[in-house]
Amino acid sequence: MVLQDDLRNVLKTVRNTAELPVTRATGVPPRRIRVGISPAWFDFKQTGRDQLEFFVELCALRPTDRVLDIGCGVGRIALPLTEYLDESGSYDGFDILPEMIDWCEANITAQHPNFRFHVADVRSSISALEAETEAWEYEFPFDDETFDFAYAGSLFTHLTPEGTENYLQETFRTLKPGGRLVATFNVFNRETQRLVPGRRVERYWPNDYGTYRTKEKDAPESNIAYEEGYVRDAYVKAGLRIVEPIRPDASYSPARAPKRGDDTANLWYSSGIIAIRP
Ligand SMILES: C[S@@+](CC[C@H](N)C(=O)[O-])C[C@H]1O[C@@H](n2cnc3c(N)ncnc32)[C@H](O)[C@@H]1O
Repeated sequence: MVLQDDLRNVLKTVRNTAELPVTRATGVPPRRIRVGISPAWFDFKQTGRDQLEFFVELCALRPTDRVLDIGCGVGRIALPLTEYLDESGSYDGFDILPEMIDWCEANITAQHPNFRFHVADVRSSISALEAETEAWEYEFPFDDETFDFAYAGSLFTHLTPEGTENYLQETFRTLKPGGRLVATFNVFNRETQRLVPGRRVERYWPNDYGTYRTKEKDAPESNIAYEEGYVRDAYVKAGLRIVEPIRPDASYSPARAPKRGDDTANLWYSSGIIAIRP
Protein backbone atom coordinates (compact mmCIF):
# COMPACT_ATOMS: atom_id res chain seq x y z
CA MET A 1 0.00 0.00 0.00
CA VAL A 2 2.78 2.40 1.03
CA LEU A 3 4.74 1.36 -2.05
CA GLN A 4 1.71 2.00 -4.26
CA ASP A 5 1.28 5.48 -2.75
CA ASP A 6 4.98 6.20 -3.28
CA LEU A 7 4.75 5.12 -6.91
CA ARG A 8 1.68 7.27 -7.43
CA ASN A 9 3.49 10.30 -6.00
CA VAL A 10 6.53 9.69 -8.20
CA LEU A 11 4.31 9.41 -11.28
CA LYS A 12 2.52 12.61 -10.32
CA THR A 13 5.82 14.47 -9.98
CA VAL A 14 7.01 13.14 -13.37
CA ARG A 15 3.73 14.21 -14.99
CA ASN A 16 3.78 17.68 -13.42
CA THR A 17 7.40 18.22 -14.45
CA ALA A 18 6.70 17.04 -18.01
CA GLU A 19 3.77 19.45 -18.22
CA LEU A 20 5.81 22.50 -17.25
CA PRO A 21 7.45 23.31 -20.60
CA VAL A 22 4.12 22.87 -22.43
CA THR A 23 2.36 25.13 -19.95
CA ARG A 24 5.15 27.71 -20.29
CA ALA A 25 5.16 27.57 -24.09
CA THR A 26 1.38 27.86 -24.51
CA GLY A 27 0.63 30.01 -21.45
CA VAL A 28 -2.42 27.89 -20.62
CA PRO A 29 -3.09 25.43 -17.80
CA PRO A 30 -2.29 21.73 -18.35
CA ARG A 31 -4.79 19.75 -20.35
CA ARG A 32 -5.72 17.49 -17.43
CA ILE A 33 -7.06 20.53 -15.53
CA ARG A 34 -8.76 22.38 -18.40
CA VAL A 35 -10.15 19.31 -20.19
CA GLY A 36 -13.76 19.81 -18.99
CA ILE A 37 -13.67 23.42 -20.15
CA SER A 38 -11.71 23.49 -23.39
CA PRO A 39 -9.38 20.62 -24.24
CA ALA A 40 -7.59 22.32 -27.16
CA TRP A 41 -5.17 25.01 -25.88
CA PHE A 42 -5.66 27.36 -28.86
CA ASP A 43 -9.44 27.15 -28.35
CA PHE A 44 -9.04 27.85 -24.62
CA LYS A 45 -7.10 31.02 -25.51
CA GLN A 46 -9.30 32.15 -28.39
CA THR A 47 -12.63 31.64 -26.62
CA GLY A 48 -11.33 33.65 -23.64
CA ARG A 49 -10.26 36.50 -25.92
CA ASP A 50 -13.59 36.41 -27.80
CA GLN A 51 -15.53 36.55 -24.55
CA LEU A 52 -13.50 39.55 -23.36
CA GLU A 53 -14.20 41.32 -26.66
CA PHE A 54 -17.91 40.67 -26.08
CA PHE A 55 -17.69 42.17 -22.55
CA VAL A 56 -16.01 45.33 -23.82
CA GLU A 57 -18.18 45.79 -26.89
CA LEU A 58 -21.58 44.91 -25.52
CA CYS A 59 -21.31 45.36 -21.75
CA ALA A 60 -19.00 48.41 -21.48
CA LEU A 61 -16.38 46.59 -19.41
CA ARG A 62 -13.71 49.14 -18.43
CA PRO A 63 -10.05 48.61 -17.45
CA THR A 64 -10.79 50.08 -14.00
CA ASP A 65 -13.71 47.73 -13.24
CA ARG A 66 -13.90 45.34 -10.30
CA VAL A 67 -14.73 41.96 -11.85
CA LEU A 68 -16.28 38.88 -10.22
CA ASP A 69 -15.95 35.52 -12.01
CA ILE A 70 -18.45 33.00 -10.58
CA GLY A 71 -17.40 29.40 -11.22
CA CYS A 72 -14.19 30.81 -12.68
CA GLY A 73 -12.64 27.50 -13.72
CA VAL A 74 -8.96 27.67 -14.57
CA GLY A 75 -8.36 31.14 -15.91
CA ARG A 76 -9.98 31.11 -19.36
CA ILE A 77 -11.32 34.62 -18.71
CA ALA A 78 -8.79 35.72 -16.07
CA LEU A 79 -5.82 35.26 -18.43
CA PRO A 80 -7.00 37.70 -21.13
CA LEU A 81 -8.27 40.05 -18.41
CA THR A 82 -4.72 40.38 -17.04
CA GLU A 83 -3.95 42.24 -20.28
CA TYR A 84 -7.05 44.43 -20.07
CA LEU A 85 -7.66 45.48 -16.45
CA ASP A 86 -5.32 48.15 -15.12
CA GLU A 87 -3.95 48.45 -11.60
CA SER A 88 -7.05 50.19 -10.26
CA GLY A 89 -9.22 47.37 -11.61
CA SER A 90 -9.39 43.97 -9.92
CA TYR A 91 -10.56 40.43 -10.44
CA ASP A 92 -11.98 37.89 -7.95
CA GLY A 93 -12.88 34.39 -9.10
CA PHE A 94 -14.21 31.45 -7.15
CA ASP A 95 -14.80 27.82 -7.94
CA ILE A 96 -15.56 24.56 -6.13
CA LEU A 97 -12.56 22.71 -7.63
CA PRO A 98 -9.39 23.45 -5.61
CA GLU A 99 -6.94 22.24 -8.27
CA MET A 100 -8.15 24.95 -10.63
CA ILE A 101 -7.83 27.61 -7.95
CA ASP A 102 -4.35 26.35 -7.02
CA TRP A 103 -3.18 26.66 -10.63
CA CYS A 104 -4.61 30.16 -10.95
CA GLU A 105 -3.01 31.33 -7.70
CA ALA A 106 0.39 29.94 -8.65
CA ASN A 107 0.33 31.17 -12.25
CA ILE A 108 -1.83 34.30 -12.27
CA THR A 109 -1.95 35.86 -8.78
CA ALA A 110 1.80 35.41 -8.47
CA GLN A 111 2.29 37.96 -11.28
CA HIS A 112 -0.93 39.96 -10.88
CA PRO A 113 -1.73 40.52 -7.18
CA ASN A 114 -5.01 42.31 -8.04
CA PHE A 115 -6.24 38.92 -9.41
CA ARG A 116 -7.50 36.78 -6.51
CA PHE A 117 -8.92 33.26 -6.52
CA HIS A 118 -11.04 31.54 -3.86
CA VAL A 119 -12.23 28.00 -3.22
CA ALA A 120 -16.00 27.78 -2.64
CA ASP A 121 -16.80 24.98 -0.21
CA VAL A 122 -20.02 24.04 -2.01
CA ARG A 123 -21.42 20.54 -2.56
CA SER A 124 -22.06 19.38 -6.12
CA SER A 125 -22.55 16.09 -7.92
CA ILE A 126 -19.75 17.13 -10.32
CA SER A 127 -17.23 16.99 -7.48
CA ALA A 128 -16.16 14.03 -5.35
CA LEU A 129 -15.09 16.38 -2.54
CA GLU A 130 -16.96 16.58 0.74
CA ALA A 131 -18.30 20.10 1.24
CA GLU A 132 -20.11 21.91 4.04
CA THR A 133 -22.53 24.06 2.10
CA GLU A 134 -25.32 23.52 -0.44
CA ALA A 135 -25.48 25.83 -3.46
CA TRP A 136 -28.86 27.19 -2.36
CA GLU A 137 -27.40 28.50 0.93
CA TYR A 138 -23.95 29.64 -0.23
CA GLU A 139 -23.12 33.25 0.56
CA PHE A 140 -20.53 34.75 -1.80
CA PRO A 141 -17.51 35.83 0.33
CA PHE A 142 -17.79 39.51 -0.66
CA ASP A 143 -19.48 42.62 0.71
CA ASP A 144 -22.63 44.11 -0.75
CA GLU A 145 -22.15 46.30 -3.84
CA THR A 146 -18.51 45.36 -4.46
CA PHE A 147 -18.37 44.64 -8.19
CA ASP A 148 -18.95 46.53 -11.45
CA PHE A 149 -19.10 43.41 -13.58
CA ALA A 150 -19.78 39.71 -13.02
CA TYR A 151 -19.36 36.73 -15.32
CA ALA A 152 -20.77 33.22 -14.90
CA GLY A 153 -19.65 31.15 -17.89
CA SER A 154 -21.37 27.79 -18.06
CA LEU A 155 -21.96 27.84 -14.31
CA PHE A 156 -25.76 27.72 -14.37
CA THR A 157 -25.43 24.64 -16.55
CA HIS A 158 -24.25 22.98 -13.29
CA LEU A 159 -26.80 24.35 -10.81
CA THR A 160 -30.30 23.10 -10.03
CA PRO A 161 -33.06 25.72 -9.57
CA GLU A 162 -32.54 26.40 -5.84
CA GLY A 163 -28.82 26.97 -6.44
CA THR A 164 -29.48 29.06 -9.54
CA GLU A 165 -31.90 31.33 -7.69
CA ASN A 166 -29.51 31.79 -4.76
CA TYR A 167 -26.51 32.51 -7.03
CA LEU A 168 -28.51 35.10 -8.99
CA GLN A 169 -29.58 36.76 -5.73
CA GLU A 170 -26.01 36.74 -4.41
CA THR A 171 -24.86 38.26 -7.70
CA PHE A 172 -27.41 41.03 -7.28
CA ARG A 173 -26.22 41.64 -3.69
CA THR A 174 -22.53 41.86 -4.59
CA LEU A 175 -22.96 43.96 -7.77
CA LYS A 176 -23.03 47.74 -7.49
CA PRO A 177 -26.17 49.47 -8.81
CA GLY A 178 -25.56 49.71 -12.57
CA GLY A 179 -23.34 46.62 -12.41
CA ARG A 180 -23.63 44.06 -15.22
CA LEU A 181 -23.82 40.28 -15.24
CA VAL A 182 -23.01 38.11 -18.25
CA ALA A 183 -24.10 34.50 -17.73
CA THR A 184 -24.48 31.55 -20.05
CA PHE A 185 -27.29 29.04 -19.70
CA ASN A 186 -28.56 26.12 -21.73
CA VAL A 187 -31.94 27.57 -22.66
CA PHE A 188 -34.81 25.93 -24.50
CA ASN A 189 -38.29 26.96 -25.55
CA ARG A 190 -40.76 25.83 -28.20
CA GLU A 191 -39.02 27.90 -30.85
CA THR A 192 -35.53 26.49 -30.23
CA GLN A 193 -37.06 23.04 -30.51
CA ARG A 194 -38.14 23.93 -34.06
CA LEU A 195 -34.94 25.77 -34.98
CA VAL A 196 -32.54 22.99 -34.10
CA PRO A 197 -34.18 19.93 -35.63
CA GLY A 198 -32.34 16.70 -35.01
CA ARG A 199 -30.98 18.07 -31.76
CA ARG A 200 -34.02 17.85 -29.59
CA VAL A 201 -33.62 18.63 -25.90
CA GLU A 202 -34.95 15.18 -24.98
CA ARG A 203 -31.94 13.59 -26.59
CA TYR A 204 -29.26 15.44 -24.65
CA TRP A 205 -31.19 16.07 -21.42
CA PRO A 206 -33.56 13.08 -21.11
CA ASN A 207 -34.69 13.76 -17.52
CA ASP A 208 -37.60 16.18 -17.49
CA TYR A 209 -38.46 18.22 -14.36
CA GLY A 210 -40.84 20.66 -16.05
CA THR A 211 -38.87 23.90 -15.90
CA TYR A 212 -35.52 22.19 -16.34
CA ARG A 213 -33.97 19.02 -17.74
CA THR A 214 -30.85 17.08 -16.77
CA LYS A 215 -28.46 14.87 -18.65
CA GLU A 216 -27.82 12.42 -15.83
CA LYS A 217 -30.41 11.42 -13.26
CA ASP A 218 -27.89 10.48 -10.57
CA ALA A 219 -25.66 13.50 -11.10
CA PRO A 220 -28.10 16.33 -11.80
CA GLU A 221 -25.42 19.04 -11.78
CA SER A 222 -23.42 17.34 -14.55
CA ASN A 223 -25.43 19.19 -17.19
CA ILE A 224 -28.70 21.12 -16.95
CA ALA A 225 -30.92 22.99 -19.41
CA TYR A 226 -33.61 25.48 -18.42
CA GLU A 227 -36.89 26.48 -19.93
CA GLU A 228 -36.55 30.13 -20.96
CA GLY A 229 -39.59 31.35 -19.01
CA TYR A 230 -38.15 29.93 -15.80
CA VAL A 231 -34.81 31.72 -16.34
CA ARG A 232 -36.56 35.03 -17.00
CA ASP A 233 -38.63 34.69 -13.81
CA ALA A 234 -35.52 33.84 -11.77
CA TYR A 235 -33.84 37.07 -12.95
CA VAL A 236 -36.92 39.11 -12.05
CA LYS A 237 -37.04 37.46 -8.62
CA ALA A 238 -33.35 38.33 -8.07
CA GLY A 239 -33.93 41.97 -9.07
CA LEU A 240 -31.76 41.72 -12.21
CA ARG A 241 -32.98 43.20 -15.50
CA ILE A 242 -32.19 41.25 -18.66
CA VAL A 243 -30.83 43.39 -21.51
CA GLU A 244 -32.43 41.94 -24.63
CA PRO A 245 -31.87 39.90 -26.65
CA ILE A 246 -30.79 36.59 -25.17
CA ARG A 247 -28.07 35.61 -27.67
CA PRO A 248 -26.32 32.47 -28.81
CA ASP A 249 -23.30 32.03 -26.51
CA ALA A 250 -20.46 34.14 -27.90
CA SER A 251 -17.61 31.95 -26.78
CA TYR A 252 -18.51 28.30 -27.07
CA SER A 253 -20.17 27.49 -30.36
CA PRO A 254 -20.95 24.10 -31.88
CA ALA A 255 -19.07 24.99 -35.05
CA ARG A 256 -15.75 25.48 -33.25
CA ALA A 257 -16.16 22.78 -30.60
CA PRO A 258 -13.12 20.51 -30.57
CA LYS A 259 -15.34 17.45 -30.28
CA ARG A 260 -18.15 16.73 -32.74
CA GLY A 261 -21.40 14.87 -32.70
CA ASP A 262 -23.64 14.18 -29.73
CA ASP A 263 -21.04 15.43 -27.27
CA THR A 264 -21.58 18.95 -28.51
CA ALA A 265 -25.34 18.82 -29.03
CA ASN A 266 -25.87 20.90 -25.89
CA LEU A 267 -23.86 23.79 -27.39
CA TRP A 268 -26.73 24.57 -29.77
CA TYR A 269 -28.68 25.63 -26.72
CA SER A 270 -25.92 27.58 -24.97
CA SER A 271 -27.09 31.18 -24.65
CA GLY A 272 -25.52 34.37 -23.32
CA ILE A 273 -27.62 36.61 -21.10
CA ILE A 274 -26.59 40.18 -20.30
CA ALA A 275 -28.30 41.64 -17.24
CA ILE A 276 -27.99 44.76 -15.15
CA ARG A 277 -28.59 45.54 -11.49
CA PRO A 278 -30.80 48.65 -11.81
C1 LIG B 1 -17.83 24.60 -17.74
S1 LIG B 1 -16.82 25.17 -16.44
C2 LIG B 1 -16.61 26.88 -16.92
C3 LIG B 1 -15.47 27.55 -16.23
C4 LIG B 1 -15.29 29.04 -16.51
N1 LIG B 1 -16.45 29.78 -16.07
C5 LIG B 1 -15.04 29.29 -17.97
O1 LIG B 1 -15.92 29.87 -18.61
O2 LIG B 1 -13.98 28.92 -18.46
C6 LIG B 1 -17.95 25.31 -15.06
C7 LIG B 1 -17.25 25.68 -13.77
O3 LIG B 1 -18.21 25.89 -12.73
C8 LIG B 1 -17.70 25.36 -11.53
N2 LIG B 1 -18.83 25.14 -10.60
C9 LIG B 1 -19.78 24.18 -10.67
N3 LIG B 1 -20.65 24.31 -9.64
C10 LIG B 1 -20.24 25.38 -8.93
C11 LIG B 1 -20.73 26.04 -7.79
N4 LIG B 1 -21.82 25.59 -7.14
N5 LIG B 1 -20.08 27.13 -7.34
C12 LIG B 1 -18.99 27.59 -7.97
N6 LIG B 1 -18.46 27.01 -9.07
C13 LIG B 1 -19.08 25.93 -9.54
C14 LIG B 1 -17.01 24.08 -11.99
O4 LIG B 1 -16.10 23.61 -11.05
C15 LIG B 1 -16.34 24.55 -13.28
O5 LIG B 1 -15.05 25.04 -13.08
